[in-house]
Amino acid sequence: STAATAVGIHDLSFATTEFVLPHTALAEHNGTPVGKYHVGIGQRSMSVPAADEDIVTLGAAAAAPVVARHGADGIRTLVFATESSIDQAKAAGVYVHSLLGLPSATRVVELKQACYGATAALQFALGLIHRDPSQKVLVVASDVSRYELDSPGEATQGAAAVAMLVTADPALVRIEEPSGLFTADVMDFWRPNYRDAALVDGQESIGAYLQAVRGTWKDYGEQGGRPLEAFSAFCYHQPFTRMAYKAHRHLLNSAGYDTDEAAVQGALGLTTAYNEVIGNSYTASVYLGLAALLDQAEDLGGRAVGFLSYGSGSVAEFFAGTVAPGYRAHLRTAQHRAAVERRRPIGYARYRELHGASLPTDGGDHPSPEETTGPFRLAGINGHKRRYEKR
Ligand code: HMG
Repeated sequence: STAATAVGIHDLSFATTEFVLPHTALAEHNGTPVGKYHVGIGQRSMSVPAADEDIVTLGAAAAAPVVARHGADGIRTLVFATESSIDQAKAAGVYVHSLLGLPSATRVVELKQACYGATAALQFALGLIHRDPSQKVLVVASDVSRYELDSPGEATQGAAAVAMLVTADPALVRIEEPSGLFTADVMDFWRPNYRDAALVDGQESIGAYLQAVRGTWKDYGEQGGRPLEAFSAFCYHQPFTRMAYKAHRHLLNSAGYDTDEAAVQGALGLTTAYNEVIGNSYTASVYLGLAALLDQAEDLGGRAVGFLSYGSGSVAEFFAGTVAPGYRAHLRTAQHRAAVERRRPIGYARYRELHGASLPTDGGDHPSPEETTGPFRLAGINGHKRRYEKR
């Protein structure tokens, strides 16, 4: 391997849940003007998992088309990034490995640092491929975002999984060095092990995100990164889509540029289409932004895209990718639109029921209700063991 080997994202596929709750239903329940959601935070609906869906079923559903297209040959590592982990010891990726029938000669591990985890997984993958360009790494980022009912965070829930095949000579995006890095010990958002729903200080979390944007951009410049003008678009972590706009304006200001709203719209406008109807998918969010950009843009071949990955707590990374010429032949635009459109709308009462349900902890035999029409389901839990099945 040489430092000149181009490495990056060869394939990208996402999956989301069985159900969807429109923000109009939440607004009606809360007595909130729906404009606060549609315009103020830039969210129209949120993906809601069925009782037999979780990060494993979503992750497997995202990754199955990737394995179907490329085969399992050469995949020697599966990295599963999540912050809605289902087990303190076993990696969720081991279930996905099994559901996808990957060879036993595979290393599987789970990575965590809030929403930043998938970018850590991507960087880990790039390092492995630099070491041996014949290998491929399957990165799966899967999350279910849950806040307390009737809390300000509730409107920013969502769920989705992204699978990326990371290889040498990638068909979609070549990931470049350097990266701009930033870490600060802040309590803006966290979830202690004994809680199902995250705790968050909303305004503090926005400030912490902006501080991280400034920090990564400064480091990126000091590491010899590209100038701002070099980028055709920017994919930000999108806890809600207006956050990308706040972040980009902040980046422009801290880099000494005026915020020309037309230019901001031009740089971000195509990246929000999936996130605004899916909601916060935590680790997957920034890569759903990439999917939306690639699926909708005119030819971006040879153009540079900036990525800003933020995870509360907090760790952030800014890096650049160059879109590979000819990438459009490798997209999954129809599959992605179908994943969004196949979701069944539910009303507020049903959403509340699903939100309140928790898995039994008594070690008994508890089959899950059959709800999902997706390719994988959580069949039940028995003796504290989760049982998954392919439908
Ligand atoms: P809030 O306090 O209910 O809302 O919660 P607000 O009062 O700040 O209003 C939001 C915006 O809507 C404001 O616009 C209002 O003016 C506007 P802004 O001032 O920001 O430009 N507005 C309206 N617009 C049009 N018509 C109306 C109307 N009314 C108000 N009628 C908050 C908002 C995001 C804080 C809340 O949803 C929350 O706590 N969310 C969860 C935390 C979060 O997403 N933080 C983002 C940064 S941290 C992050 O990204 C990491 C994370 O993904 C986790 C991880 O890393 O693991 C969360």
